[in-house]
Amino acid sequence: MPDFRSLKVVDNFYQNNLFFPMPTVIISTLCEDGTTSLGSYSLVFPYYIAGKDYYAMILECRNSSNTAQNILKNGKCALNFIKDDRKYFKEAVRLGFPGKTPAEKMKDCNLKLVGGKADGERPLILEDAYQVIECTWDDSLEDGYKSKEHIGELEGVEPPYNNFNGITSKFGCHFILKIDEILMESKYADNLRDGLKKNSFPNVPVDYGYHDSKNFWYKKFKGFSPTAEAIAASNSCSADSVMYCAERLDTKVRFTKEACEMYVKIPRPFMKAALMQVVKIAEENGIEVIDKAAAEKIAEIRKKNK
Ligand SMILES: Cc1cc2nc3c(=O)[nH]c(=O)nc-3n(C[C@H](O)[C@H](O)[C@H](O)COP(=O)(O)O)c2cc1C
Repeated sequence: MPDFRSLKVVDNFYQNNLFFPMPTVIISTLCEDGTTSLGSYSLVFPYYIAGKDYYAMILECRNSSNTAQNILKNGKCALNFIKDDRKYFKEAVRLGFPGKTPAEKMKDCNLKLVGGKADGERPLILEDAYQVIECTWDDSLEDGYKSKEHIGELEGVEPPYNNFNGITSKFGCHFILKIDEILMESKYADNLRDGLKKNSFPNVPVDYGYHDSKNFWYKKFKGFSPTAEAIAASNSCSADSVMYCAERLDTKVRFTKEACEMYVKIPRPFMKAALMQVVKIAEENGIEVIDKAAAEKIAEIRKKNK
């Protein structure tokens, strides 16, 4: 038996029972008077990542927070990912202290706010974020819009509760946030497009939440650098098995064996979907036979579309 101990699972187990690495995100929301309010959040993760009509994030938060109240009211928010710098983290912890109105919090805010790119009336975004996701709450899922009836109930909401979208417990809320725009600082957008190296990544703080009532703990990124772990070549398919898959696609576009060689690293479960994407681009560009040159051209088009 390995040397593990069972821990009692308690409220906020992700920080009380675990060392759970999380992102540090400052969420901007729109107040009724048109100003922007900022709150700090870590429980914000990708939710719909593929195969749906839209892409989405999920946010878990206290339903009496300014952030939750504003999202319930107008649905708009921006997820601002901060860089690893003590001054930003200090401000994130200040903005993470409950019980202050937006006006009280924002009068001392030292973060610079600018307009984003998504349509409509929106909260401002953090100029110094390395990436920002502008979102709209999908209040149609699980009739989330009905939670709006509880706007202003800041001392705890009585049941019934939703399961995953809207008010989900006396003090809790979940929001499924449709992604309207992803904004990336240009140098990192270039890095994503041009292929990643050790120094391509932004410096990001990794936080571990509140482990006691005195301190918020996080790990500084400076001095560490991302390390690449090669994906084993033995995981590759053979060109023949790529060809087998390509020949069974519902299309007139044909693949040469040379072109198939270029797709051997795609994991088997994703092969059909990946080849269909390639075919779609071929069809859009009048390519009937995908040989090596065509496959390279298609790869270039995909890169540009990223
Ligand atoms: C780095 C950091 C991460 C936090 N993450 C969350 C979170 O994921 N969910 C949550 O409900 N509160 C979280 N908090 C606490 C909120 O920031 C706190 O409730 C704050 O009052 C929210 O601000 P608001 O009322 O202006 O929205 C976090 C605090 C900090 C400092």
